Amino acid sequence: MQILRTVAELRNWSRHQRAASQTIALVPTMGALHAGHASLIRAAAVSCGRVAVSIFVNPTQFGPNEDYARYPRTFEADCVLAEAEGAHIIFAPTVEELYPPGASTFVEVQGLSGCLDGKSRPTHFRGVATVVAKLLIAVEPDRAYFGQKDAAQVAILRRMTADLRFATEIVVCPIVRELDGLALSSRNLYLTPAQRTQALTLSRAIRKVESLAASNERRAINLIEAAHQIFAAEPAIRIDYIALVDWSTLEPVEIATPGTLFAVAAYVGPTRLIDNTVIA
Ligand code: PAJ
Repeated sequence: MQILRTVAELRNWSRHQRAASQTIALVPTMGALHAGHASLIRAAAVSCGRVAVSIFVNPTQFGPNEDYARYPRTFEADCVLAEAEGAHIIFAPTVEELYPPGASTFVEVQGLSGCLDGKSRPTHFRGVATVVAKLLIAVEPDRAYFGQKDAAQVAILRRMTADLRFATEIVVCPIVRELDGLALSSRNLYLTPAQRTQALTLSRAIRKVESLAASNERRAINLIEAAHQIFAAEPAIRIDYIALVDWSTLEPVEIATPGTLFAVAAYVGPTRLIDNTVIA
């Protein structure tokens, strides 16, 4: 497995693969890889001949008081995991490589970027859209793989690729969870043992909503209230949002139908965690 550091090398690699009639998958990550990332790389390797994994802690998607500086960086272990799961190259650029000095060009998906996580993280999705656009333009992959875990991110990137007429297909993979239900996240590393227990409230709320929806409770007001009740049992957690939305517009809906997104975000101590389910 090769490690590429520049956009020119990445583009060159990609051109060679296409010339050799290989299908190309891109799996964008910020590193600190875990079983959730591994599932994306595996899915990519199953359906594409060549798999590129990017590892880049993208500064523009972090707010000024967020965890950019202390975001976990585990590059050596990430390379071992990525290779074991079938990656052919790792793209690991410097900040200056992706954002040349004076860089002032951003991609903004208007409207959607202010919904859900975008409400409390106003510049977050602009940073995500910008960095993913840069990667898609360099690689021109056949498919790019993302996790349902970041469901609002998926909606924004689907909109962006449709609007910019990128030829890449966006593939969404299911949420990988710990045995006790906690959705895997690089930020789980921040949790103390006590917070790790409190964090289970998110998946508990998700399961409650799934079981209500399965028994045909479809009203947003009742599904959201049931989730609030689960959170009320854990006062140490501060809710950011609990929402039932159309997954493509991220606009609130009153009645859940198949494909509707139920999503939660909450602070466990200083750590912000998210979880969601797509209504069956
Ligand atoms: P990161 O948080 O590293 O996640 C990389 C990819 O892994 C995302 O598509 C995310 O949804 C997926 N992922 C994370 N946890 C998962 C889980 N438990 N199950 C399944 N998939 C999971 O998301 C980002 O990085 C960045 O915003 C990025 C798209 C790379 C742009 O910088």
